[in-house]
Amino acid sequence: MNKISWQSPSNIALVKYWGKHGLQLPSNPSLSFTLQACHTRSELEWENGTGRVELLFEGLQNEKFRLRVNNFIENIRPHFPFLEELDIFFNTTNSFPHSAGIASSASAMSSLALCLCSLEEAVVNRKLPEAEFFRKASCIARLGSGSAARSVYGGWVLWGSAESVAESSDEYAIPLPMAVHECFSRMCDTILIVDESPKAVSSSEGHRLMQSHPFASRRFDQAHEHIDLVLKALAVGDEDSLALITENEALGLHGLMMTANPGYILLKPGTLQIIDKIRRFRAASGMPAFFTLDAGPNVHLIYPERIAEAVQAFIQDELLLYCSRKQRIDDRIGQDPHKTGY
Ligand code: PMV
Repeated sequence: MNKISWQSPSNIALVKYWGKHGLQLPSNPSLSFTLQACHTRSELEWENGTGRVELLFEGLQNEKFRLRVNNFIENIRPHFPFLEELDIFFNTTNSFPHSAGIASSASAMSSLALCLCSLEEAVVNRKLPEAEFFRKASCIARLGSGSAARSVYGGWVLWGSAESVAESSDEYAIPLPMAVHECFSRMCDTILIVDESPKAVSSSEGHRLMQSHPFASRRFDQAHEHIDLVLKALAVGDEDSLALITENEALGLHGLMMTANPGYILLKPGTLQIIDKIRRFRAASGMPAFFTLDAGPNVHLIYPERIAEAVQAFIQDELLLYCSRKQRIDDRIGQDPHKTGY
């Protein structure tokens, strides 16, 4: 049987995507950096057939993921008509514990999209120019999970049309086309696992609730403003502004969840304790350590590598007690996905 495999990193957004329309088009631009330790590796095998799709997750049958991937493949069939005449088999593995409560859809959908784009090259026997290949992979990944559009590139990544970045698009993500100040080149992200149980309300439902959210239009404007401010901070090395805007985005995201109809709360008491400790640590030490949150209770503590020693001691002494089974994942800004086999 023929085989291709790709390894894709996860990413953490500092300016958040929350709200979508049409075919997974974002209601506002978002900006993230790609991670290194948290990644998904997907293998794709294929043979002539009738359009069958099978999936093993970490070598085992998984009904939830199988349905999700089948749904994804149905959505992207128009882009890959040759799939009708193949049977395809995915085997995907995450580098991080499946039950840690960390969203894996970004790295997973990105790795599946890259496998499919490589499959297309193999089947139609035509190689796309590199930039076009990744743009298509980003577009396809987006149809699986919005944030996955950003996981086909390493470093700092922008997804969604932003006025100040001419190349940006709602259809696909792009690597940030401007220089980022050196102080942001070695960012660390320690993910503090406060709660590993499945979320009570999914991100898809959260995006859907934004369609009738009373604050939606102001929020979308705010995201554009934040993108411009973050781009400026990244260019000049303004760590204080980056910290303040990122934290505001994280709390704003959860504020939108709380004020949706029906409103809901994904934060846990431990999340708030950690946030409070991080802010106190920053105020007392003057060190640029700050937090962000995804759509869940776990806290991402972001800091430059040069203060890693002090931050690690702080995590050990003051934060781990709020983590479920003292779990945390030390991650950092990472590189592009890579092809791991043929
Ligand atoms: O990619 P989705 O549909 O799971 O949405 C992810 C949304 C956030 O993680 C909360 C924000 C983001 O931009 O990644």
